[in-house]
Amino acid sequence: NQSKFDELAKKNTEALLGGGEKRIEVQHKKGKLTARERITLLLDEGSFEEIGKFVMHRCKDFGLDKEYYLGDGVITGYGTVNGRLVYVFAQDFTVFGGALSESHAEKICKIMDLAMKNGAPIIGLNDSGGARIQEGVTSLAGYADIFYKNTLASGVIPQISAIMGPCAGGAVYSPAITDFVLMVENTSYMFVTGPNVVRTVTHEVVTSEELGGASTHSTKSGVTHFSCANEVTCINNIKKILSFVPQNCEDQAPSLPYEFGDEGRKALDSIIPENPNQPYDIKEVIEHITDADSFFEVHQNYAENIVVGFARLAGRSIGIVANQPAVMAGVLDIQASQKAARFVRFCDCFNIPLLVLEDVPGFMPGTNQEWGGIITHGAKLLYAFCEATVPRITVITRKAYGGAYDVMNSKHIGADMNYAWPTAEIAVMGAKGAAEIIFKREISEAENPVEKLQEKVDDYTEKFANPYRAAHRGYIDEVIQPSETRQKLIRAFKMLENKVANLPRKKHGNIPL
Ligand code: COA
Repeated sequence: NQSKFDELAKKNTEALLGGGEKRIEVQHKKGKLTARERITLLLDEGSFEEIGKFVMHRCKDFGLDKEYYLGDGVITGYGTVNGRLVYVFAQDFTVFGGALSESHAEKICKIMDLAMKNGAPIIGLNDSGGARIQEGVTSLAGYADIFYKNTLASGVIPQISAIMGPCAGGAVYSPAITDFVLMVENTSYMFVTGPNVVRTVTHEVVTSEELGGASTHSTKSGVTHFSCANEVTCINNIKKILSFVPQNCEDQAPSLPYEFGDEGRKALDSIIPENPNQPYDIKEVIEHITDADSFFEVHQNYAENIVVGFARLAGRSIGIVANQPAVMAGVLDIQASQKAARFVRFCDCFNIPLLVLEDVPGFMPGTNQEWGGIITHGAKLLYAFCEATVPRITVITRKAYGGAYDVMNSKHIGADMNYAWPTAEIAVMGAKGAAEIIFKREISEAENPVEKLQEKVDDYTEKFANPYRAAHRGYIDEVIQPSETRQKLIRAFKMLENKVANLPRKKHGNIPL
């Protein structure tokens, strides 16, 4: 049997080389790692088990009957990350530029099926020239099979896509459906059509990087959640995401051990400026409330007027949505609403409790926003909160004005605990605007309108620019000293640990898209 064993060893060696030494060298010269090197970085040492190593394409056209590579341009299998099972596929650019064939797609679908059946995350490391051009429609069919499975898996298991090279045309839609997209700066790009087609159709002259590089998609379009300086950072970020999320929708996120100590945070008492129109950085509040260095921001450079991300509170994984008064006064606009809505829905899919920090002057006014559909997009955030059944807590740090008060996880739409700091202002609108409307005649007829306006503003401020009206009604459960916020939240989330809330039976809701 020795010759048979030798044959296996030879095939294994051949498969490990992908498209061959020369192409591996080219890949390295571009500053990119190979698919196998990426898998090695991602998984716990020695944990990778490959599936489908000897799969080959079945195309006979355009000379492909003479060109075969074991594995057919994608490496698939399973392994562990920090001891927890994950499924992974990594496209191998050294084989036909990682282009997707029928067999290549079948390999990906096979591990997606396994991931679904066994309830573990799936991670895609994308690096591909798109559909295998020689194959035509069978390759397109392969993409569609993947999209379909991505959609069925959505909300069942976490799906993470890293873009580590080209990702164009149909290829973009699998990552787009998954929960998180990461891109590597300068070596990856995503677009529906490349710069050449763009030049022909719209006469715009644009580079690949400008059109669909990591910085474009992390700041302008929001397509990617993480822009990573290099491949190692990208893979570390995947591991970090995994550390906050459960294996599947029936599971709870892993908790870290935590030793209780003094949970008071004095610094929180001096963050809100005396002048209510002066900005402050909500990330400072987040840092003081959550476990040291645990905050992991998602969509850091996109719609910065709202901050979202994962953190830990006494070791437990939570999702945070926070208005950012330091950017555009924390106003809710189209992009911020979409960004936050998607994050809320992710957390709700995967049993991650939500903490909302609220300081919002309202929705953004203007034709730009109205014509862009702020009504529909703002409603996404409202809908996402209303629908969420995970434990939900809100802390109003300062402004909670108008419809935005309702939207930002108010008691009325199902929040479990609503706290306010003494600096909270819960009202229909700012005092000046309010006084100008309701005392319009009185002010215009006054001997000194400026003085009259001020008098009315003071009056309105005294009545409404505080949390007590809402607390009298029970809309706010407790007005708390900022320094005790962390302690209160730890206890409240613990109290809500076994929350059960069921939505009415339905096929699925119709979120305003
Ligand atoms: N189908 C089949 N083979 C492909 C391919 C595809 N879609 N994309 C790339 N390849 C092959 C190339 O023929 C080349 O083969 P070789 O090593 O035998 O010479 C190899 O992959 C590497 O491609 P190359 O063009 O040399 O790499 P690059 O880094 O210079 O460029 C791309 C990468 C992706 C920009 C370029 O290959 C490209 O434009 N590909 C086609 C993209 C496309 O239109 N896809 C179909 C629409 S979804």
